Amino acid sequence: MSAGSGRRPGEPGHPEYRPAHERERVRIHPPGEPSSKRAESYRDSPVRFGWRLTGFLAVLLTVGLMIGVYHASFRTRIGPAQPIPFSHRIHAGVKSISCLFCHNQAAESARAGIPPVETCMLCHSRIIVTYPPIERVRRHYAERAPIIWKKVTKLPEYVYFNHSVHLHRGIDCGKCHGDVAAMDRIEQVQDLVMGFCITCHRETGATHDCFTCHR
Ligand code: HEC
Ligand code: HEC
Ligand code: HEC
Ligand code: HEC
Ligand code: HEC
Repeated sequence: MSAGSGRRPGEPGHPEYRPAHERERVRIHPPGEPSSKRAESYRDSPVRFGWRLTGFLAVLLTVGLMIGVYHASFRTRIGPAQPIPFSHRIHAGVKSISCLFCHNQAAESARAGIPPVETCMLCHSRIIVTYPPIERVRRHYAERAPIIWKKVTKLPEYVYFNHSVHLHRGIDCGKCHGDVAAMDRIEQVQDLVMGFCITCHRETGATHDCFTCHR
């Protein structure tokens, strides 16, 4: 205690007096203990770990919610990329081209078939001819090289299916393929499992003899 001042250390005016916020700091870092060591011990403390965990979980929860909302509201189903970015939404949807214009085999055979490049050229020898994907289509046509499309809908080899039979009974393509006219890239939305086929066969009075589909 210095003489002369006449005041005690806690009082303003005394040489060792510290304002409240400085006193606080002194309490956190008592003289003799380096502040870095204090910080280290806080870094390792379970309290800090608890806060970090809480923060981490909060971020995780937020990201999870955002992904959930995104999927619920914006995700459009999309199938595999194809060699030419052909869109059913544009052709069958916006331009209202009939499914059978391109899949004409469906009317008289087991397969619906994929249209050859010649079918594309019926229109694209005149329509948007300089658009790069169409230039590629025209190159396929000029070189007589078929476009190898990726297959989307598949049944196991041991199952027999027939398009024309279903078409003639007035069953819509969408029953088995979903709303194709809304898809940019085709995706198989309906699981073509045995139960799915047989359920409808029962409901429509069609045969569900094993030999119908397994011959
Ligand atoms: C009753 C169910 C069903 C209906 C209705 C149906 N399809 Fe299919 N489709 C299938 C199945 C099953 C396959 C897979 C066949 C396979 O892998 O042997 C398929 C395959 C296809 C394929 C691939 C090429 C092929 O022939 O295998 C195209 C294209 C197709 N369907 C178009 C159509 C169109 C267009 C219609 C409407 C005119 C239609 N489908 C109606 C079940 C159906
Ligand atoms: C009956 C006419 C017709 C046929 C057949 C046809 N298209 Fe098109 N196609 C159009 C029209 C119309 C547009 C829209 C052009 C526009 O946007 O100005 C288009 C647009 C496109 C586009 C650009 C838009 C998009 O992303 O789809 C591509 C790529 C395309 N067609 C590929 C094909 C391929 C490949 C075939 C053959 C399997 C084909 N088209 C068959 C009429 C046709
Ligand atoms: C302008 C021609 C065109 C029209 C119109 C069209 N398609 Fe296609 N379709 C194609 C081509 C080309 C493919 C192969 C590329 C692909 O999968 O997108 C295809 C593929 C498919 C496939 C998938 C075949 C597989 O690999 O399993 C189905 C299913 C199909 N079409 C159904 C339909 C239905 C249903 C409609 C009517 C709503 C329709 N298509 C109208 C040209 C056409
Ligand atoms: C939405 C209803 C429906 C669905 C789904 C369906 N079918 Fe059919 N199927 C029918 C009807 C209706 C007939 C016609 C029966 C008749 O006229 O004798 C038929 C006939 C058939 C036939 C021909 C039978 C014959 O007399 O030669 C085969 C094969 C067949 N279906 C296989 C399948 C397979 C495989 C699936 C699943 C991938 C399937 N069907 C899904 C309704 C359906
Ligand atoms: C309307 C068509 C249809 C009829 C009728 C049908 N099946 Fe199937 N079956 C399928 C299809 C499609 C698959 C392949 C898809 C799957 O794995 O379910 C299949 C698959 C199977 C499998 C293999 C299943 C597996 O898990 O590998 C067996 C076994 C089978 N069927 C037995 C039968 C028997 C027995 C009957 C008569 C009671 C019968 N099926 C009638 C359509 C049919």
